[in-house]
Amino acid sequence: MKIALLAGDGIGLEIMTEARKVLDAFSLPDVAYAEADVGGTAYRRHGHPLPPETLEVAKNADAVLFGAVGDPACDNLERHLRPEQAILGLRQALGLFANLRPATMFPGLESMSALRPEIARTIDLLIVRELNGDVYFGEKAIRTLDDGRRQGFDFMSYAEDEVRRIAHVGFRAAQGRGKRLTSVDKANVLETSQLWRDVVIEVAAEYPDVELSHMYVDNAAMQLVRNPGQFDVVVTGNLFGDILSDEASMLAGSIGMLPSASLDANGKGLYEPIHGSAPDIAGQDKANPLATILSAAMMFRYTFARADVADRIERAVRGVLGQGLRTGDIALPGESVVGTRAMGDAVLAALRGA
Ligand code: IPM
Ligand code: MG
Repeated sequence: MKIALLAGDGIGLEIMTEARKVLDAFSLPDVAYAEADVGGTAYRRHGHPLPPETLEVAKNADAVLFGAVGDPACDNLERHLRPEQAILGLRQALGLFANLRPATMFPGLESMSALRPEIARTIDLLIVRELNGDVYFGEKAIRTLDDGRRQGFDFMSYAEDEVRRIAHVGFRAAQGRGKRLTSVDKANVLETSQLWRDVVIEVAAEYPDVELSHMYVDNAAMQLVRNPGQFDVVVTGNLFGDILSDEASMLAGSIGMLPSASLDANGKGLYEPIHGSAPDIAGQDKANPLATILSAAMMFRYTFARADVADRIERAVRGVLGQGLRTGDIALPGESVVGTRAMGDAVLAALRGA
């Protein structure tokens, strides 16, 4: 197992340290780690957010565990030098087209949700977001029109094979869960979405056991708040998935709890918490390491086919939450709070006890 550890910026280093402790607890026989700089940290040390050495390390690994990138000090750099470009570059260079973002409610965190606890309790969904296409990677520029006005544009497109391969991921994920798939698009306005919908319907013929429905993205945003329990697996494009997955994470209580996987066609993956680099609390032992630890669990499940290890990590996380341990982001006013390291240590202790 070759694992690249890319900690990145802000709280990245602290949360990665805790995830690494958890990995080490398994004393896996054939594991090799390689670390590399990424994001603003890499820009400062090497002049680029995704230096060639880092890309090499990521390419040579079976899986990448990623912390977070983003640094306000870099906000005024040219776009291609900003920390966020590292994650976009890795997704593209490694062909990571399938982004799995589960949103589940952890018992005990219901009152952290923006929703009433009885509604929040019903959240158990998986967003399958396409990650290599759409308006993210189309031609884009700010140009000056003949009459002198500036115009910004970003070309939105999906080719049918791109839709087909992510649709398969969505249907297979649904087969492994509640057998319901909601495809989210904007087919009432966008031609890109009309093709998306047509292709998803074609692919559905191969999955007669999965119940397929379609939803416009605006309605989906509303339904997620109104009745999130209706969703099992949601498959959608890059931009809509970006927005809906942030929404879903907040409904589930804290963005500090949710892991994600970005997979290529062969099971190689990049695993990262869906939260950002939180520069405001960096270096203060305040960050919640659980999303990164849960991302490591996903790595065992999807890349290394070790569901046993993944289950144990996930059980340990539920265990520490059950004991009432809370970092600041998941604590109610007045509840006592533990630091990043103490939370990591508690997960370790729960693992050893399990
Ligand atoms: C995400 C992030 C990225 C995205 C940014 C940092 C480019 O928001 O992973 O959801 O938009 O995909
Ligand atoms: Mg996002």
